[in-house]
Amino acid sequence: MAEAPVPKPWIAAIHAYVPGKSPKDFAGGRPLVKLSANENPLGTSPKALAARADALHPSLYPDPDCKALRTALGALHGIDPALIVCGTGSDELLHLAAQGYAGPGDEVIYVRYGFSVYDIAARRCGAVPVVAADADYGSDVDTIVPLVNERTRVVFVANPNNPTGSYLPRGEIARLHAALPRDVLLVVDQAYGEYVAPEDEDGALALAAAHGNVLVTRTFSKIYGLAGERIGWGTGAAGIVDTLNRIRGPFNVSSNGQAMALAAVADQSFVEQSRRHNAAERARFVAALAALGNHGLRPLPSQANFVLVLFEGRLTAEAAFGGLAERGYITRWLPNQGLPHGLRITIGTAEQMDEIALALREMAEAAK
Ligand SMILES: Cc1ncc(COP(=O)(O)O)c(C=O)c1O
Repeated sequence: MAEAPVPKPWIAAIHAYVPGKSPKDFAGGRPLVKLSANENPLGTSPKALAARADALHPSLYPDPDCKALRTALGALHGIDPALIVCGTGSDELLHLAAQGYAGPGDEVIYVRYGFSVYDIAARRCGAVPVVAADADYGSDVDTIVPLVNERTRVVFVANPNNPTGSYLPRGEIARLHAALPRDVLLVVDQAYGEYVAPEDEDGALALAAAHGNVLVTRTFSKIYGLAGERIGWGTGAAGIVDTLNRIRGPFNVSSNGQAMALAAVADQSFVEQSRRHNAAERARFVAALAALGNHGLRPLPSQANFVLVLFEGRLTAEAAFGGLAERGYITRWLPNQGLPHGLRITIGTAEQMDEIALALREMAEAAK
């Protein structure tokens, strides 16, 4: 007999999610700036902050159905609120999607350099994760489709993708969906969807409305600046929403979270301001790195609120990570995701991005 309870082998095989470091530590007498978790540098809509006071008393359970929030999201995006399900972050919904549709022996596909939660979500329900090769770090429909077989139950694609920032345009998402059997669930994870220019929208919401096998997930953690409240939402056909509702936590979004998210949805000017800030600062940062010339720093094209910088010259990503930390910036070095030469940097304020670009220039020149 074992001396302690033994976890299921597929659970024991999981590598726990590694979150970005926290800004509790100090460097040079000032708090570290956290640019490692793709949070909003502009914070939270003041209207959402004010809505905290309107939340239900903490002694009462929250609305189990997030009715007001689903109604507001439905109005904003032109979706029947009955086809929306809310989660404890979009994270919960990603896990539920895998759990609802895959089990031991089934296969779940995602791309190399994809979001690390997909691997955990697949293994957690005993399914076999199957990894599709990337195309210069981006997702590639032509490597995903040949992996689909009768055991495939779920395909996860983040669009834009984390940690690469890469983006599959509308035609590629449509091509991927068209190539999948109707009993395979396509999850398009749009955690960074609001950062994409409206004219470049990937069409996944329309696919979710028109077909029975597409789930789109979104979050309040990124552009809405509510990561600490843990609110996400998803939409798909009635059958998919019904499946997720059966297995989600009954009171999975707190009263505060619902009240703040509702006010945040109503404040689209904050969302627009955040989108514009991000697009401008991301472009400026990428241009500053490009101006460094032949030091081997390669920022990958990004549609998200971060840039993955590849270090292909003398300055290593590890050294740059350490050097930036000494200057007070926590970024995300990614050896555990097969990217020992990659540093993912969240787009911060203009001053922060100037300081980081300058620091990288100094470090690259010193490494010559
Ligand atoms: C691609 C992607 N999907 C989902 C999430 C989960 O976000 P949350 O659970 O906060 O909604 C993240 C968070 O970093 C992400 O990068």
